[in-house]
Amino acid sequence: MRQYGLEWLAIIALSLQFAAGTISPKDKKSKEAIPAGDIKKGPVPENVFARDLIVKYPAPADIIKESGTYCKKTSERNFTGEVLGYVTPWNNQGYDIVKTFANKFTMISPVWLQIKRKPAGTFFMTGTHDVDHEWIREIRKRGKKSNLKVLPRVLFDGWTSDDYYSLFTTGTEPKELTKTIITSAKAYKFDGIVLEVWSQLGGQARKALQMLVKTVGEALAKAQLTFILVVPPAVTNQGKPGMIEHDDILNMFHYVDYFSVMSYDYSSPERPGANSPYKWVEKCIETLAPTTTERKKFLIGLNFYGYDYTSTGGHAVLGPAYLDLVKNTKKIQWSEDAEEHFFEVKEKDGKHTVFYPTLLSIRRRIELAEKLGVGLAIWELGQGLNYFYDLL
Ligand SMILES: *[C@@H]1O[C@H](CO)[C@@H](O)[C@H](O)[C@H]1NC(C)=O
Repeated sequence: MRQYGLEWLAIIALSLQFAAGTISPKDKKSKEAIPAGDIKKGPVPENVFARDLIVKYPAPADIIKESGTYCKKTSERNFTGEVLGYVTPWNNQGYDIVKTFANKFTMISPVWLQIKRKPAGTFFMTGTHDVDHEWIREIRKRGKKSNLKVLPRVLFDGWTSDDYYSLFTTGTEPKELTKTIITSAKAYKFDGIVLEVWSQLGGQARKALQMLVKTVGEALAKAQLTFILVVPPAVTNQGKPGMIEHDDILNMFHYVDYFSVMSYDYSSPERPGANSPYKWVEKCIETLAPTTTERKKFLIGLNFYGYDYTSTGGHAVLGPAYLDLVKNTKKIQWSEDAEEHFFEVKEKDGKHTVFYPTLLSIRRRIELAEKLGVGLAIWELGQGLNYFYDLL
């Protein structure tokens, strides 16, 4: 009898621990909170396909219960194309994700490096303090089966328009810049780099950028280093041409190994909605790469973050914050048009509308990648949920 009572106490304590901080006492929904013991985490025998979790109408409770699991067969791939995963030092859970799922990726891009210009027309790399040799060694070892490559992202950071002007008009500067990139890549034994510069100029100076990409690309190829170029979407959310066109791609095609398309952020607080509507993603790829040969060099951008919109604005939302919001909703809705899930939830500060990827939305985009014959580029691995990786 007495023992019985104590058991109950323990269960109540567990539920309270779970509810603490996220649900206020007067909120009726706290009664429906899922006991912490029901929330599964870590490796399980079967993947999300076998467990029938890829559905149009997932119960919020199932998302909370299942999203921390992943199939223990972490070296089995479902998608056979290239998979690039970005990792950032500010969501450092991504580092562990790569260790666990090393063979599901063919390329990893840690977001570490920035290239800067000195007034004298020389260049230097910053961010090298973030380079984690121990981790690189570990993921290369674990990622043997997929022959995992490590290609840090290099960002043109803090450049003024004068800096760009000098780079584009001084004959020696593109070569100097290239030398700086290659010296770093070799010093740290990277397999290549991911270059992010195109969007920085807002769609201007395209011919000059093409020349730069050619110079960098030729030198990297000679040094047997892989070269990935980040490119913006080819179509805006108004259906107009974006900051890059097919012609730009054609002029750079030969010098680039892969184009990583930023096919997300379709909506914004000014214009709330889906993050990456299916048809728009398809259109972006078809515009930049009309033929199957061209598509072999393309990677569809997949967002592993979402957006939380309110009447006063909106902001990006990552896995843990998403789970906190999902807890308080009754129904997840499916947008047939965008092929994305979303839900509404009333919080203390009013109504929130949340778009965040799900197993089905990701699965649909992977099927699209299979159909088009392109690879995937995930932004980024520290933001998603464990069971997403069963899909790769
Ligand atoms: C991926 O998983 C689905 C569902 O189990 C299966 O039908 C498909 O054949 C798998 N693809 C590969 C390449 O293993």
